[in-house]
Amino acid sequence: MRTIALMNQKGGVGKTTTTVNLAAALARTGRKVCVIDLDPQSHASTHLGVLEEADRPSVYDALVNSTPLAELRVPAGDNLWVVPSDINLAAAEVELAGTVGREMLLRDLMADDPMKFDYVMMDCPPSLGVLTINALTAADEVFVPLQPHFLALHGMSKLFETVDLVARRLNPKLVISGIILCMYETGTRLSAEILNDLEDYLVQTRQSGRKTPWTDATIFRTRIRRNIKVAEAASFGRPIFDYEPACHGSRDYASLAREVIAQEMGIVETIPPAQAA
Ligand SMILES: Nc1ncnc2c1ncn2[C@@H]1O[C@H](COP(=O)(O)OP(=O)(O)O)[C@@H](O)[C@H]1O
Ligand SMILES: [Mg+2]
Repeated sequence: MRTIALMNQKGGVGKTTTTVNLAAALARTGRKVCVIDLDPQSHASTHLGVLEEADRPSVYDALVNSTPLAELRVPAGDNLWVVPSDINLAAAEVELAGTVGREMLLRDLMADDPMKFDYVMMDCPPSLGVLTINALTAADEVFVPLQPHFLALHGMSKLFETVDLVARRLNPKLVISGIILCMYETGTRLSAEILNDLEDYLVQTRQSGRKTPWTDATIFRTRIRRNIKVAEAASFGRPIFDYEPACHGSRDYASLAREVIAQEMGIVETIPPAQAA
């Protein structure tokens, strides 16, 4: 099982769109996937066709009332489930302020969950508060969706610092395993420059010999191109594959899923023979 937090404290960079469509792309390959919607705006839930209902429990009840995830999870397609969010989650930060171990609530709920998935993908809100920290504590990996526009890398050091802090204090396994370029404008100089800056930064980290959670981060070769169908699918309440299977967006997310699956082969290959045996 891979548990992945999609995180970037900037809003509007493609976190939710990527969580939903990458999850759907992985589910289409036969893998079992669960999306956990940790944003009070619940866009991942609505994108998966799960609309807010007044008395339906949500991930808020998991965090605040210890409701098991199995009681909250709803089917969202073949091999695909979602633990929905709702607006109550906006108050969780304040309500959990006095709770000891509030950073580890989601991790413990996931450990107690009898249903096992190939991928659990957590859609984080655009902040570095208790909800994002819960995702980082429960995850083994972080994917950072990035929109390569002016100031795209502004705030990246804060993001890296937060992951580093969680890795040191709460979750030593945590690594940033992927950076995903979203809403990519092919052929623009700015997109290419931002990509270069990011590559330079990662190369410098590797050369410095310093071990950080992002030392082995991959910038996925697949770039998610800007495509109006991707935005339309969100309001249609289905992943892109159900809305417009032949568009660029469907092809890009399917290609990203292939790279994500290929990472697992990479991980297997790097295990020394003695350990693998
Ligand atoms: N590849 C894309 N092409 C066109 N629009 C996109 C694409 N990816 C995301 N969007 C749109 O951009 C907006 C922000 O994306 P979203 O995934 O909600 O970002 P975040 O979760 O980081 O706030 C949404 O309206 C979404 O539909
Ligand atoms: Mg979002």
